[in-house]
Amino acid sequence: AAGFRGVIAVDGPSGSGKSSVCRAVARRLGLRYLDTGAMYRAVTWAAIDRGLDLDDQPAVAALSRGLTLGISTDPAAPGIAVDGVDVDGPIRTPKISESVSAIATNLDVRADLIARQRAIIADDGGIVAEGRDITTVVAPDADVRLLLTADENARIARRARELHGTADQEALKATHAQIATRDARDSTVVDFLVAADGVVTLDTSALTFEQVVSTVLQIVDEQAGAR
Ligand code: DC
Repeated sequence: AAGFRGVIAVDGPSGSGKSSVCRAVARRLGLRYLDTGAMYRAVTWAAIDRGLDLDDQPAVAALSRGLTLGISTDPAAPGIAVDGVDVDGPIRTPKISESVSAIATNLDVRADLIARQRAIIADDGGIVAEGRDITTVVAPDADVRLLLTADENARIARRARELHGTADQEALKATHAQIATRDARDSTVVDFLVAADGVVTLDTSALTFEQVVSTVLQIVDEQAGAR
């Protein structure tokens, strides 16, 4: 896949290992990296910071449209700033994770962020862009389109380690509830659990991180070569 300079679109649910895999693939191929989930989180952070009612869709959409989102596309140094304020840490807190669905289901916010995402993807240099609707809505004509899946147990275990640093019984239980609630809310906007036509599905449940990365690189070789 060396020399590839196109667009790789990756979708998948939380806990599929998407973000770390996409960053690693971008680094190895010398491509840019775009975490679209960070943009939904950043708007959520701003809406809470400004004291908005998150269910006031027109107000939140107006806020979104007026924000300057500075998002790094360097896979070695991801980060995001809202109107010049670094929010990379704050957007990963449980408070944001619990509130973000209200913003992700706001169709006017989606229209705003999708337009920004398309502009970033169209910039010079290839890119790995990840989210929930990249293969279907944001970049349906990407050179390579992938859906990363993982069975529920694998996702819960990965997420538990991320959130609690362990996958003991208690952490698994807390994470299970959280993942189920978020999937249910997320999938009201985009169906990211089923691959669209032409999208390659990669089930990561039984694979190590390294195996997922090398399989993705292999798929890039096959798909990009086939075009
Ligand atoms: O991938 P993540 O957990 O950082 O995503 C945060 C939220 O944003 C999640 O609730 C799904 C939503 N999202 C979306 O609706 N569309 C995207 N392209 C990316 C994320």
